[in-house]
Amino acid sequence: MSKLDYLRENLEMCDEIILDALCMRYRVIEDITTYKHKKKLAIVQPDAEEKKRKLLLSRLSDNRHTENVMDVFETILRNSKKIQFHQLFDYNIVLIGFMGAGKSTISQALNSVFAMDVIEMDQVIAQREGMGIPEIFEVHGEEYFRNLETDLLRELQCRKGAVISCGGGVPMRDENVIEMKKNGKVILLTASPETILKRVKNNHDRPLLEHNKNVGFIRDLMEKRRAKYEAAADIIIHTDHKSEFEICEEIIGYAKEPAYLR
Ligand code: S3P
Repeated sequence: MSKLDYLRENLEMCDEIILDALCMRYRVIEDITTYKHKKKLAIVQPDAEEKKRKLLLSRLSDNRHTENVMDVFETILRNSKKIQFHQLFDYNIVLIGFMGAGKSTISQALNSVFAMDVIEMDQVIAQREGMGIPEIFEVHGEEYFRNLETDLLRELQCRKGAVISCGGGVPMRDENVIEMKKNGKVILLTASPETILKRVKNNHDRPLLEHNKNVGFIRDLMEKRRAKYEAAADIIIHTDHKSEFEICEEIIGYAKEPAYLR
């Protein structure tokens, strides 16, 4: 056998070990998720993740491939999160709520915790139109923007397992609510007008609030929208004084039974 053949055989053995270990790891991940879900334990445990990273780094301390190994490990971790998420949700999570209620922030948190795909409706619309939301309102008017929202929501119903972060006005149209319920769990995020004001006061992307940044206006508009928001929601989560992780945990707490157990 040539030296090269011999080395290739060794490599094949390494790959087999890696494949077996990965398959085993992902099976263990599924069991952990099922256990935590059944025992109502927190699925999200950022401290445990950090501890694992530190342990691995210390084991690799003087290995010249540390960077590459850790790079692969980050991918393994991200895929583990995806597996956890797919066990818990086989539908889309649709986040609704008033401007500044935390839809984008919580979408990003769900992305980093469970590696879920996020669709920011405002962002997609702005990208496709080649202009920001305030400009769309100015050039084409609000009705045009609302029609784009309805079209996009329809288009998104072919997705599965994503977080759809809706613009604050989306649930105002009944047809939009019918669309989002087709394969989504609708989660309403709420906050007090005071909290909303704090969160939006330095932002200039919201034409409806641009010249109305005061608690009175926000409270009135929230009141006007409240019935529609609540009617659309499967779950309501109050976000005041809660951390992003607490809110993610609350969302996950409402998850269905793991898909493969049903
Ligand atoms: C709107 C909310 C905004 C954006 C647009 C209109 C609304 O989205 O779609 O400015 O009618 O409440 P956010 O809720 O993400 O700020």
